[in-house]
Amino acid sequence: MYGRVGRTTCLTEPKGAVSIPRPAAPKEHAIVRIGHISDLHLADRGRYPRNGFSARDCDRHSAKLAKGLLDALREVGVDHLVVTGDLTLSAETREFERAADMLRWWAEAGKLTVVPGNHDVWTADAVDTGRFLRAIGPDGKGMRRPVPTYPHVVPLGDVVLVALDSARFGEVPHQTAGRLGADQLRSARELCRQHQKAGKATVLAFHHHVVLPPERVPSDALVARMPLADADQVIRLVAELPVAAVLHGHRHCTFRVDVPGATHPTPILCTGSASRVADEPVRRARASIYDFDAGGLRGVEALVSGAT
Ligand SMILES: [Fe+2]
Ligand SMILES: [Fe+2]
Repeated sequence: MYGRVGRTTCLTEPKGAVSIPRPAAPKEHAIVRIGHISDLHLADRGRYPRNGFSARDCDRHSAKLAKGLLDALREVGVDHLVVTGDLTLSAETREFERAADMLRWWAEAGKLTVVPGNHDVWTADAVDTGRFLRAIGPDGKGMRRPVPTYPHVVPLGDVVLVALDSARFGEVPHQTAGRLGADQLRSARELCRQHQKAGKATVLAFHHHVVLPPERVPSDALVARMPLADADQVIRLVAELPVAAVLHGHRHCTFRVDVPGATHPTPILCTGSASRVADEPVRRARASIYDFDAGGLRGVEALVSGAT
């Protein structure tokens, strides 16, 4: 239906959850469709080894797969696309340029929100020159003068997307934790309160995982060394204030964990990588599509590369 991209419904839904048909919702509960991709890890193979990566590391991801999924998302039609980081392999200028090119249609349509991942702040040089913000930034259009800009708040009708930056530079990147920090967490809390009063659903998005499910795959062992240092604060936030969902990447497989929420369980959704070359179903390159309304998450679909 979409080249080699297949479409499945509710792959990550827990038993008993259902996807509601569209467009059945009344106007006051209009559905907002959010597409979600992550962890593209774009790289120019010929320029490696560098920054601790070999040329073979580049072979784990395919820009072609990511492009196929972006084309499929355009064909399906979503109201907005969120990209939860690791657009690049090691934050090289050319890698950011490729990511900007790939996402240009979405940025120009005003339908794009991007947060950086740990690979987008991989080198001191990339951080010092504000490479991610200059080339991409929160709306994909790049910033002439890079300034701290998160939380980035995107109103989408009855739903508000709050994008946060969890990427932190460290001298040993493979062992550097992500962190949202007290200021962003305070802002996120205040935004959740405001949106609750306004009758809107808040969706949080950032790069790092909050919870690792027990069914780990051995090749993900490295990711456990790069956790979100203040994940406990996120768990507390969603327990105290209504959050429709938390979207993230960082782990290159798809999973959903529901944690106790203020009004009902809050889904934490990892979409996996949009470019990963893999046969395991949970690791196959994919994009997720979520249906939200003012009451929360109503449905989940997946576009999966190579699925029939
Ligand atoms: Fe990644
Ligand atoms: Fe990551």
